[in-house]
Amino acid sequence: MRFSSAVLALAAAFGAVDAAPSPANTGLRGFNYGAFFLNQQAKVQNDFAYEFKRAKALPGTSGWTSARLYTMVQWGTKSDIIQAIPAAIDTNTKLLLGLWISGGTQSLDNEIAALKAAIAKYGTKFTNLVVGISVGSEDLYRDAAGEVGTTSAYLVSSVKRVRSVIAGTALAGVPVGHVDTYDSFLNGTNKAVIPAIDFIGFDGYPYWESTKANSINDAMTRFYDGYDKTVKLAGSKPVWVTETGWPITGKKNNLAVASAANARIYWQNIACTLLQKKINVFWYDLQESQYGTANPDFGIFGPGDLGTLTPRHSLVCVR
Ligand SMILES: *[C@@H]1O[C@H](CO)[C@@H](O)[C@H](O)[C@H]1NC(C)=O
Repeated sequence: MRFSSAVLALAAAFGAVDAAPSPANTGLRGFNYGAFFLNQQAKVQNDFAYEFKRAKALPGTSGWTSARLYTMVQWGTKSDIIQAIPAAIDTNTKLLLGLWISGGTQSLDNEIAALKAAIAKYGTKFTNLVVGISVGSEDLYRDAAGEVGTTSAYLVSSVKRVRSVIAGTALAGVPVGHVDTYDSFLNGTNKAVIPAIDFIGFDGYPYWESTKANSINDAMTRFYDGYDKTVKLAGSKPVWVTETGWPITGKKNNLAVASAANARIYWQNIACTLLQKKINVFWYDLQESQYGTANPDFGIFGPGDLGTLTPRHSLVCVR
Protein backbone atom coordinates (compact mmCIF):
# COMPACT_ATOMS: atom_id res chain seq x y z
CA MET A 1 0.00 0.00 0.00
CA ARG A 2 1.35 3.36 -0.96
CA PHE A 3 -0.85 5.26 1.47
CA SER A 4 -0.44 4.69 5.17
CA SER A 5 -3.58 4.92 7.28
CA ALA A 6 -1.89 7.74 9.22
CA VAL A 7 -1.68 9.83 6.05
CA LEU A 8 -5.32 9.11 5.25
CA ALA A 9 -6.40 9.94 8.81
CA LEU A 10 -4.49 13.21 8.63
CA ALA A 11 -6.04 14.04 5.28
CA ALA A 12 -9.51 13.21 6.60
CA ALA A 13 -8.92 15.34 9.72
CA PHE A 14 -8.04 18.35 7.61
CA GLY A 15 -10.75 17.57 5.10
CA ALA A 16 -8.20 18.48 2.47
CA VAL A 17 -8.49 15.53 0.12
CA ASP A 18 -10.78 12.57 -0.24
CA ALA A 19 -9.27 9.18 0.55
CA ALA A 20 -7.82 7.73 -2.63
CA PRO A 21 -9.99 4.97 -4.05
CA SER A 22 -8.78 1.48 -3.21
CA PRO A 23 -8.10 -0.98 -6.02
CA ALA A 24 -10.18 -3.61 -4.20
CA ASN A 25 -13.30 -4.88 -5.96
CA THR A 26 -16.37 -3.03 -4.70
CA GLY A 27 -18.99 -4.11 -7.22
CA LEU A 28 -18.63 -1.28 -9.74
CA ARG A 29 -20.92 -1.81 -12.74
CA GLY A 30 -20.07 -0.19 -16.03
CA PHE A 31 -19.78 -0.48 -19.77
CA ASN A 32 -16.95 0.09 -22.22
CA TYR A 33 -17.33 3.30 -24.23
CA GLY A 34 -15.43 3.83 -27.45
CA ALA A 35 -14.36 7.31 -28.52
CA PHE A 36 -16.13 7.07 -31.88
CA PHE A 37 -19.20 5.57 -33.48
CA LEU A 38 -19.10 2.53 -35.74
CA ASN A 39 -18.86 4.87 -38.77
CA GLN A 40 -15.74 6.50 -37.22
CA GLN A 41 -17.58 9.72 -36.36
CA ALA A 42 -16.27 11.18 -33.09
CA LYS A 43 -18.61 11.03 -30.10
CA VAL A 44 -19.16 14.49 -28.62
CA GLN A 45 -20.28 15.45 -25.14
CA ASN A 46 -24.01 14.98 -25.85
CA ASP A 47 -23.38 11.54 -27.33
CA PHE A 48 -21.46 10.34 -24.29
CA ALA A 49 -24.09 11.81 -21.94
CA TYR A 50 -26.86 10.06 -23.93
CA GLU A 51 -25.10 6.72 -23.51
CA PHE A 52 -24.27 7.22 -19.82
CA LYS A 53 -27.90 8.13 -19.08
CA ARG A 54 -29.22 5.09 -20.96
CA ALA A 55 -26.91 2.79 -18.99
CA LYS A 56 -28.31 4.17 -15.75
CA ALA A 57 -31.91 3.49 -16.77
CA LEU A 58 -31.79 -0.12 -17.95
CA PRO A 59 -34.87 -2.26 -17.37
CA GLY A 60 -34.47 -5.13 -14.91
CA THR A 61 -31.08 -4.08 -13.52
CA SER A 62 -29.51 -1.04 -11.88
CA GLY A 63 -26.29 0.57 -10.78
CA TRP A 64 -24.56 0.75 -14.18
CA THR A 65 -23.02 4.08 -13.30
CA SER A 66 -19.40 3.55 -14.31
CA ALA A 67 -17.70 4.01 -17.66
CA ARG A 68 -14.45 2.59 -18.97
CA LEU A 69 -12.77 4.78 -21.59
CA TYR A 70 -9.97 3.73 -23.93
CA THR A 71 -8.39 7.15 -24.33
CA MET A 72 -8.17 10.62 -22.78
CA VAL A 73 -7.97 12.18 -26.24
CA GLN A 74 -10.98 13.42 -28.18
CA TRP A 75 -11.21 11.37 -31.39
CA GLY A 76 -9.80 13.19 -34.41
CA THR A 77 -7.68 15.62 -32.36
CA LYS A 78 -4.06 15.46 -31.25
CA SER A 79 -4.54 15.88 -27.52
CA ASP A 80 -7.84 17.65 -26.79
CA ILE A 81 -9.64 16.35 -23.68
CA ILE A 82 -12.13 13.61 -24.58
CA GLN A 83 -15.66 15.03 -24.26
CA ALA A 84 -16.67 12.00 -22.19
CA ILE A 85 -15.18 13.89 -19.22
CA PRO A 86 -17.70 16.78 -19.06
CA ALA A 87 -20.45 14.25 -19.92
CA ALA A 88 -19.41 12.11 -16.93
CA ILE A 89 -19.39 15.19 -14.69
CA ASP A 90 -22.90 16.17 -15.84
CA THR A 91 -24.28 12.66 -15.33
CA ASN A 92 -22.27 11.74 -12.20
CA THR A 93 -20.65 8.77 -13.95
CA LYS A 94 -17.60 7.13 -12.40
CA LEU A 95 -14.61 6.73 -14.69
CA LEU A 96 -12.06 4.02 -15.35
CA LEU A 97 -9.77 6.13 -17.51
CA GLY A 98 -7.77 4.58 -20.33
CA LEU A 99 -4.52 5.83 -21.82
CA TRP A 100 -3.62 4.56 -25.30
CA ILE A 101 0.07 3.58 -25.40
CA SER A 102 0.54 1.56 -28.60
CA GLY A 103 1.96 2.95 -31.83
CA GLY A 104 4.96 4.92 -30.56
CA THR A 105 5.83 7.18 -27.64
CA GLN A 106 3.76 10.05 -29.09
CA SER A 107 0.58 8.18 -28.06
CA LEU A 108 1.34 8.39 -24.36
CA ASP A 109 2.65 11.97 -24.69
CA ASN A 110 -0.73 13.00 -26.11
CA GLU A 111 -2.68 11.01 -23.50
CA ILE A 112 -0.71 12.62 -20.68
CA ALA A 113 -1.23 16.10 -22.16
CA ALA A 114 -5.01 15.49 -22.24
CA LEU A 115 -5.01 14.00 -18.73
CA LYS A 116 -3.14 17.01 -17.30
CA ALA A 117 -5.45 19.38 -19.17
CA ALA A 118 -8.52 17.61 -17.73
CA ILE A 119 -7.17 17.89 -14.18
CA ALA A 120 -6.45 21.59 -14.72
CA LYS A 121 -9.77 22.37 -16.42
CA TYR A 122 -12.25 20.34 -14.36
CA GLY A 123 -10.46 19.90 -11.02
CA THR A 124 -12.10 17.76 -8.37
CA LYS A 125 -15.41 17.58 -10.29
CA PHE A 126 -13.41 15.32 -12.61
CA THR A 127 -10.90 13.71 -10.28
CA ASN A 128 -13.50 12.67 -7.68
CA LEU A 129 -15.16 10.49 -10.36
CA VAL A 130 -12.01 8.57 -11.27
CA VAL A 131 -11.95 5.03 -9.88
CA GLY A 132 -8.87 3.88 -11.79
CA ILE A 133 -6.51 4.46 -14.67
CA SER A 134 -5.64 1.76 -17.16
CA VAL A 135 -2.32 2.29 -18.88
CA GLY A 136 -2.93 0.60 -22.22
CA SER A 137 -5.53 -1.84 -23.52
CA GLU A 138 -4.68 -5.27 -24.96
CA ASP A 139 -1.23 -4.03 -26.03
CA LEU A 140 0.49 -7.28 -24.99
CA TYR A 141 -2.10 -9.33 -26.86
CA ARG A 142 -1.66 -7.31 -30.06
CA ASP A 143 2.13 -7.42 -29.79
CA ALA A 144 2.08 -11.23 -29.53
CA ALA A 145 -0.36 -11.37 -32.46
CA GLY A 146 2.02 -9.33 -34.64
CA GLU A 147 -0.24 -6.25 -34.55
CA VAL A 148 0.53 -2.77 -33.21
CA GLY A 149 1.07 -3.31 -29.49
CA THR A 150 3.83 -2.90 -26.93
CA THR A 151 6.32 -5.09 -25.11
CA SER A 152 5.87 -5.66 -21.40
CA ALA A 153 9.03 -3.58 -20.74
CA TYR A 154 7.53 -0.57 -22.52
CA LEU A 155 4.23 -1.10 -20.72
CA VAL A 156 5.96 -1.14 -17.31
CA SER A 157 7.90 2.03 -18.13
CA SER A 158 4.63 3.68 -19.24
CA VAL A 159 2.98 2.74 -15.93
CA LYS A 160 5.89 4.34 -14.05
CA ARG A 161 5.62 7.46 -16.16
CA VAL A 162 1.88 7.79 -15.48
CA ARG A 163 2.46 7.33 -11.74
CA SER A 164 4.98 10.18 -11.79
CA VAL A 165 2.55 12.39 -13.76
CA ILE A 166 -0.30 11.95 -11.25
CA ALA A 167 1.91 12.22 -8.14
CA GLY A 168 1.11 15.49 -6.43
CA THR A 169 -2.17 15.94 -8.33
CA ALA A 170 -5.69 15.17 -7.13
CA LEU A 171 -5.34 11.80 -8.90
CA ALA A 172 -2.40 10.73 -6.73
CA GLY A 173 -3.20 7.36 -5.18
CA VAL A 174 -5.83 6.43 -7.77
CA PRO A 175 -5.26 2.76 -8.71
CA VAL A 176 -3.15 2.37 -11.84
CA GLY A 177 -3.64 -0.86 -13.76
CA HIS A 178 -3.47 -2.46 -17.16
CA VAL A 179 -6.17 -4.15 -19.25
CA ASP A 180 -5.30 -7.16 -21.38
CA THR A 181 -6.51 -10.56 -22.49
CA TYR A 182 -5.97 -12.99 -19.66
CA ASP A 183 -3.62 -15.23 -21.62
CA SER A 184 -1.34 -12.19 -21.99
CA PHE A 185 -1.08 -11.85 -18.21
CA LEU A 186 -0.52 -15.62 -17.93
CA ASN A 187 2.30 -15.52 -20.53
CA GLY A 188 5.61 -15.73 -18.63
CA THR A 189 7.19 -13.18 -21.00
CA ASN A 190 5.02 -10.55 -19.33
CA LYS A 191 5.66 -11.43 -15.70
CA ALA A 192 7.06 -7.96 -14.88
CA VAL A 193 3.64 -6.40 -15.45
CA ILE A 194 1.65 -7.58 -12.42
CA PRO A 195 4.14 -6.33 -9.78
CA ALA A 196 4.04 -2.90 -11.48
CA ILE A 197 0.26 -2.38 -11.33
CA ASP A 198 -2.43 -1.96 -8.65
CA PHE A 199 -5.19 -3.94 -10.40
CA ILE A 200 -5.39 -6.38 -13.28
CA GLY A 201 -7.94 -5.58 -15.97
CA PHE A 202 -9.14 -8.97 -17.24
CA ASP A 203 -10.58 -9.24 -20.76
CA GLY A 204 -12.15 -12.64 -21.39
CA TYR A 205 -14.36 -13.70 -24.28
CA PRO A 206 -15.28 -17.40 -24.58
CA TYR A 207 -16.73 -16.52 -28.01
CA TRP A 208 -13.20 -15.75 -29.27
CA GLU A 209 -11.60 -18.85 -27.70
CA SER A 210 -11.99 -20.86 -30.86
CA THR A 211 -9.28 -23.42 -30.07
CA LYS A 212 -11.22 -24.60 -27.01
CA ALA A 213 -14.73 -25.88 -26.37
CA ASN A 214 -16.61 -22.58 -26.49
CA SER A 215 -20.30 -23.27 -26.97
CA ILE A 216 -22.63 -21.26 -24.76
CA ASN A 217 -22.82 -24.35 -22.54
CA ASP A 218 -19.01 -24.23 -22.12
CA ALA A 219 -18.91 -20.46 -21.67
CA MET A 220 -19.16 -20.32 -17.88
CA THR A 221 -16.34 -22.87 -17.51
CA ARG A 222 -14.22 -21.01 -20.11
CA PHE A 223 -14.76 -17.63 -18.44
CA TYR A 224 -14.10 -18.70 -14.86
CA ASP A 225 -11.17 -20.92 -15.86
CA GLY A 226 -9.44 -17.80 -17.22
CA TYR A 227 -10.59 -15.55 -14.40
CA ASP A 228 -9.56 -17.97 -11.64
CA LYS A 229 -6.12 -18.55 -13.21
CA THR A 230 -5.63 -14.78 -13.40
CA VAL A 231 -6.69 -14.30 -9.77
CA LYS A 232 -4.20 -16.97 -8.70
CA LEU A 233 -1.40 -15.38 -10.71
CA ALA A 234 -2.30 -11.91 -9.41
CA GLY A 235 -1.78 -12.90 -5.77
CA SER A 236 -2.83 -9.96 -3.61
CA LYS A 237 -3.67 -7.70 -6.58
CA PRO A 238 -7.38 -7.41 -7.39
CA VAL A 239 -8.67 -8.57 -10.77
CA TRP A 240 -11.37 -6.44 -12.37
CA VAL A 241 -13.38 -7.71 -15.33
CA THR A 242 -12.77 -4.94 -17.85
CA GLU A 243 -14.29 -6.61 -20.91
CA THR A 244 -16.60 -9.52 -21.46
CA GLY A 245 -19.80 -10.21 -23.34
CA TRP A 246 -21.43 -12.49 -25.90
CA PRO A 247 -22.42 -11.43 -29.42
CA ILE A 248 -26.03 -11.23 -30.48
CA THR A 249 -25.30 -11.34 -34.19
CA GLY A 250 -22.24 -12.51 -36.14
CA LYS A 251 -20.61 -15.64 -37.46
CA LYS A 252 -20.36 -18.92 -35.60
CA ASN A 253 -16.87 -19.12 -34.07
CA ASN A 254 -15.92 -22.76 -33.49
CA LEU A 255 -18.82 -23.82 -31.22
CA ALA A 256 -19.88 -20.31 -30.23
CA VAL A 257 -23.17 -19.21 -31.76
CA ALA A 258 -24.10 -15.52 -31.70
CA SER A 259 -27.73 -15.01 -30.68
CA ALA A 260 -29.90 -13.04 -28.30
CA ALA A 261 -30.86 -16.26 -26.50
CA ASN A 262 -27.19 -17.15 -25.92
CA ALA A 263 -26.32 -13.57 -24.90
CA ARG A 264 -29.13 -13.86 -22.34
CA ILE A 265 -27.65 -17.11 -20.95
CA TYR A 266 -24.20 -15.47 -20.84
CA TRP A 267 -25.63 -12.47 -18.96
CA GLN A 268 -27.29 -14.73 -16.40
CA ASN A 269 -24.23 -16.99 -15.97
CA ILE A 270 -21.49 -14.35 -16.07
CA ALA A 271 -22.83 -10.83 -15.44
CA CYS A 272 -25.16 -11.98 -12.68
CA THR A 273 -22.48 -14.05 -10.89
CA LEU A 274 -19.98 -11.18 -11.11
CA LEU A 275 -22.53 -8.76 -9.68
CA GLN A 276 -23.29 -11.17 -6.87
CA LYS A 277 -19.58 -11.52 -6.04
CA LYS A 278 -19.19 -7.70 -6.18
CA ILE A 279 -16.41 -7.97 -8.76
CA ASN A 280 -15.94 -4.75 -10.70
CA VAL A 281 -17.30 -5.34 -14.19
CA PHE A 282 -17.19 -3.32 -17.39
CA TRP A 283 -19.45 -5.10 -19.86
CA TYR A 284 -18.92 -5.21 -23.61
CA ASP A 285 -21.11 -3.56 -24.39
CA LEU A 286 -24.10 -1.24 -24.28
CA GLN A 287 -24.35 -0.51 -28.03
CA GLU A 288 -21.87 -1.30 -30.76
CA SER A 289 -23.89 -0.37 -33.85
CA GLN A 290 -25.12 3.20 -33.80
CA TYR A 291 -24.82 3.63 -37.57
CA GLY A 292 -24.49 0.44 -39.58
CA THR A 293 -24.10 -2.99 -38.01
CA ALA A 294 -20.99 -4.32 -36.29
CA ASN A 295 -20.01 -7.88 -37.15
CA PRO A 296 -20.05 -9.53 -34.68
CA ASP A 297 -22.30 -7.23 -32.65
CA PHE A 298 -22.01 -7.51 -28.86
CA GLY A 299 -24.40 -4.64 -28.07
CA ILE A 300 -27.21 -5.14 -25.60
CA PHE A 301 -28.90 -2.59 -27.83
CA GLY A 302 -28.93 -3.10 -31.58
CA PRO A 303 -28.48 -0.51 -34.32
CA GLY A 304 -30.29 2.80 -34.08
CA ASP A 305 -31.32 5.42 -31.53
CA LEU A 306 -30.34 4.21 -28.08
CA GLY A 307 -33.11 6.30 -26.54
CA THR A 308 -35.90 4.50 -28.36
CA LEU A 309 -34.55 0.94 -28.54
CA THR A 310 -35.23 -1.83 -26.05
CA PRO A 311 -32.56 -4.33 -24.93
CA ARG A 312 -32.23 -7.39 -27.15
CA HIS A 313 -32.36 -9.70 -24.13
CA SER A 314 -33.51 -9.59 -20.54
CA LEU A 315 -31.09 -8.07 -18.01
CA VAL A 316 -32.85 -9.52 -14.98
CA CYS A 317 -30.73 -11.78 -12.75
CA VAL A 318 -32.70 -14.90 -11.85
CA ARG A 319 -31.60 -16.61 -8.67
C1 LIG B 1 4.09 -14.96 -25.10
O1 LIG B 1 4.42 -13.62 -25.46
C2 LIG B 1 5.45 -13.51 -26.43
C3 LIG B 1 5.77 -12.03 -26.59
O2 LIG B 1 4.69 -11.33 -27.07
C4 LIG B 1 5.00 -14.18 -27.72
O3 LIG B 1 6.02 -14.12 -28.68
C5 LIG B 1 4.59 -15.61 -27.46
O4 LIG B 1 4.04 -16.17 -28.63
C6 LIG B 1 3.58 -15.69 -26.33
N1 LIG B 1 3.32 -17.10 -26.00
C7 LIG B 1 2.11 -17.64 -26.09
C8 LIG B 1 2.00 -19.06 -25.68
O5 LIG B 1 1.13 -17.01 -26.47
